[in-house]
Amino acid sequence: MRAKARKSVFVCQQCGKESPKWLGHCPSCQAWNSFVETTISLSRPSAARLYSENKPQELSQVEKDTFLRLKLGFAEVNRVLGGGLVPGSLVLIGGEPGIGKSTLLLQISAMVTEKNRATAYISGEESINQIKLSAERLNINGEGLYILSETGLSIILEHLERLSPSLVVIDSIQTMYLEDIAGAAGSIAQIRECTLRLMHWAKQKNVPIFITGHVTKEGAIAGPGTLEHIVDVVLYFEGEPFSNYRVLRGVKNRFGSTNEVGVFEMSGTGLIEINDPSQVFLPKNNHSAIGSVVVPTLEGSRPLLVEIQALTTQASYGPPRRIANGIDFNRLLLISAVLTKRAGLRLSNQDIIVNATGGLKLCEPAVDLGIASAIASSFYDSKPIASLVVMGEVGLSGEIRAVPQVERRLAEAIRLGFKSCLIPKLTPRPSLDYTNIQLIEAGSIAEALRLVLTTRNVKGKM
Ligand code: TYD
Ligand code: MG
Repeated sequence: MRAKARKSVFVCQQCGKESPKWLGHCPSCQAWNSFVETTISLSRPSAARLYSENKPQELSQVEKDTFLRLKLGFAEVNRVLGGGLVPGSLVLIGGEPGIGKSTLLLQISAMVTEKNRATAYISGEESINQIKLSAERLNINGEGLYILSETGLSIILEHLERLSPSLVVIDSIQTMYLEDIAGAAGSIAQIRECTLRLMHWAKQKNVPIFITGHVTKEGAIAGPGTLEHIVDVVLYFEGEPFSNYRVLRGVKNRFGSTNEVGVFEMSGTGLIEINDPSQVFLPKNNHSAIGSVVVPTLEGSRPLLVEIQALTTQASYGPPRRIANGIDFNRLLLISAVLTKRAGLRLSNQDIIVNATGGLKLCEPAVDLGIASAIASSFYDSKPIASLVVMGEVGLSGEIRAVPQVERRLAEAIRLGFKSCLIPKLTPRPSLDYTNIQLIEAGSIAEALRLVLTTRNVKGKM
């Protein structure tokens, strides 16, 4: 047998950039002192070999979706995956420690075995006894569910060879190592090689594999960004520490759309899926409250109604503070600036706190006007009109811009019994007949505030 060729390279531990010599400063991700010498084997199972059995096919002859997806016990997970788990796919679930990744995957594994299929749950973090304790809490009896507490990947692959399971879980990729690769478990080289090896195995055996990965404080999966490029699907499991709600978000999916979300609640006996999340993120009664505005946001294909709360108070000392929970901080700064300049709210001496309830992260600009209305409502101590939802993007000159898919958002608001909706003026009138909801159109932020805030005895000028 040919001896394995090896070479020594320097790899950035932040982003995975390789260099033949040591560098103090990474030209790719700008990190300092992040290069570590690593030997890599040149005869790694490259992606080229994985697919080498494929022959060129005429596109017109290719059949769509020929693979039969494995339906998991959670409909929410199936949707995020694009309709079930594709055989031979490698799915990465990233999330902060303690968010519930192991719980989710233990529950999924148990549900797959219920259909008379063996699953292998490999944990590099917990002992068999710890897993047994969690399983008892989750009411999992564990027939057909094979547990292994191991971190050596070659040993794991040998066991898998014998077990030939229909689903494999590797709980956390950061704990796995290969002897023939230099570096400790969790280093870039180890993570990348272990992932490549698992990818190779999954494709060869046509068995799906879930791997978990911890995320750093900055929110990226610890280890290489390259890890996300290797795997087929990347999902993030998120939630606020003080909330029981968890959101599974698709970030990359080679077999479906991204930006789908699945919503769960962490209970004393494991994760429970929430099929009607709008109900969860809304205040229990539909009465309007100062500083509270409901926005219809789109998460993938699904509209969700979420409550945004804002509080403004006189800053007691120092520069005023801005706190954004569940919305983008820079967006909050932008909206505050526009409110000050274009709607006359004197916010420069105000602390502003904005909260999206339920632990959801709202990223789309369509929620801008909702955030602006909530801040203005708190600033003026004035309730928004009752049973209102708000959508619109705020521009720098104070104009309200159109949002995509107005109809889908309106339909969800009507379904949950809302009576009025503030929409951008530019929007072409929705083609459907919305007699159940009153549409209030606003062209500018100042006009929007005039229309939705109930009282006008305000401190600032409107
Ligand atoms: P875990 O799945 O171990 O998180 P991760 O793998 O992402 O690190 O979840 C740990 C947390 O979940 C822990 O704080 C306990 C809590 N938990 C429940 O609330 N209910 C349950 O049924 C289980 C098993 C865990
Ligand atoms: Mg865990």
